[in-house]
Amino acid sequence: KNIVILISGNGSNMVAIANTAQKEQWHEKLQARVACVISNKPGAEGLASAARMGIPTQVLDHKQFETRDAFDAALQRAIDSYQPALVVLAGFMRILTPAFVSHYAGRLVNIHPSLLPAFAGLNTHQRAIDAGCKVAGATVHLVTADLDHGPILAQAVVPVLPGDSVAALATRVLSQEHRIYPQAIKALLASAEPLN
Ligand code: GRF
Repeated sequence: KNIVILISGNGSNMVAIANTAQKEQWHEKLQARVACVISNKPGAEGLASAARMGIPTQVLDHKQFETRDAFDAALQRAIDSYQPALVVLAGFMRILTPAFVSHYAGRLVNIHPSLLPAFAGLNTHQRAIDAGCKVAGATVHLVTADLDHGPILAQAVVPVLPGDSVAALATRVLSQEHRIYPQAIKALLASAEPLN
């Protein structure tokens, strides 16, 4: 089972998934492996981390495409060359077209840094602090055409502490993302149901 991971930046969730796959021997136990990491940003820091771990990488710069449809079609071709069981969005900062999303229905997952359905969209940590939330967290969900609203697979909760900065809260949430994302992916790969 091939896993393809899409990133745009640091790729710390991607690293957490790849490390867990290595440590827990997903190759042996689940016949699963991280087959490729694809970035839409040529300079994404996560590309170097993936290369260091021996994972093939590809860059598909969205700026080289005239339209969102053309970019998504090229991305789909790149991904499908791996015949993936699972496509993992890990800090991939592009909105995907409905055609792309429906092509991967049931095998496209995302992590969002809030307790969905609260705070879909951007600036989640600032919004949670501004709202006076006492807890925040992260959500792993299946991706559907409705942005940040697909079926929830896993969540983790952290406290919002008095005087928290966005950076402090983001760090606390991110460390939980690194825990729940690999486990949610493992559960999906291990489930008896076909993924699509
Ligand atoms: C994470 O907080 C993720 O939830 C959000 O973007 C961030 C990506 O971080 N979608 P990284 O690239 O995995 O380090």
